Amino acid sequence: QVAAASGHTVVLVDQSDEILKKSTKGIEESLKRVTKKKFADKPEAGAEFIEKTLKNITTSTDAVAVVHSTDLVIEAIVENQDIKNELFKRLDKFAPEHTIFASNTSSLQITQLANSTTRQDRFGGLHFFNPVPMMKLVEVIKTPMTSQKTFESLVDFSKAVGKSPVSCKDTPGFIVNRLLVPYMMEAVRLFERGDASKEDIDVAMKLGAGYPMGPFELLDYVGLDTSKYIIDGWHSLEPDNPLFAPSPLLNKLVEEKKLGKKTGEGFYKYK
Ligand code: 3HC
Repeated sequence: QVAAASGHTVVLVDQSDEILKKSTKGIEESLKRVTKKKFADKPEAGAEFIEKTLKNITTSTDAVAVVHSTDLVIEAIVENQDIKNELFKRLDKFAPEHTIFASNTSSLQITQLANSTTRQDRFGGLHFFNPVPMMKLVEVIKTPMTSQKTFESLVDFSKAVGKSPVSCKDTPGFIVNRLLVPYMMEAVRLFERGDASKEDIDVAMKLGAGYPMGPFELLDYVGLDTSKYIIDGWHSLEPDNPLFAPSPLLNKLVEEKKLGKKTGEGFYKYK
């Protein structure tokens, strides 16, 4: 959405036409929200912006078939190392020489993903934040193998889509999640110990620390499954690090398929 809105030609790839239809509808809804603010007094210009943006997006269920005409691949599939490696390995065979591969992963090492391809120098991380149309930040991740030219291209692309890039090495959580996820897990532990209610913890962090959302609202917003993937991944890397300790409550909610806003219930109910 943000790439198309800034004039780039985008091919959105997913597993089925049904998912693509749902995604396109989500983009349309989000564009309406953006437009309502951006073109508050000019509804015609807003309608034109939406039309132009949507024209820049086509969809496909065949990544291999479309990658031959792509300059940049941004992968944002399930947080599973083997599945991501398999996809990158396949795309590497069909993508043009100059094409840069980037992952939006929040829990896996970019270096390990890059190693599934023959283009380690043209591989980096591009980490966006929810909700992407609103959050201005992009973390650009440079592995020891990412070339300076690739890194600069990723920084330039981030600016071209209207974001403010920061750079970070390929370290667990990069900058934001390394600070944010242990904080949210500490909130869960505080609640698990019965020291405060989740409602009071959320109010406290909003009114006492100026955060736009409390930790439980944010966990539900990001998705409890995503949060669990992140913490489990780090825990397996550093089992003795108390910041990365899994939470029985988070695990229970995920097991019960209470994944947050997207399923209608997480720490809170949304129906
Ligand atoms: N698309 C377009 N516009 C959106 C939007 C979306 N998905 N979500 C919100 N907006 C815009 C709309 O203009 C909306 O107005 P509308 O409701 O009239 O359409 C406006 O934001 C205001 O939204 P709200 O009134 O719902 O609430 P807020 O003023 O609190 O703003 C927020 C919403 C920007 C999401 C704000 O609460 C916020 O900044 N929250 C924190 C988000 C955060 O911390 N994100 C990082 C998560 S970590 C992550 O993503 C990393 C990953 O790896 C896990």
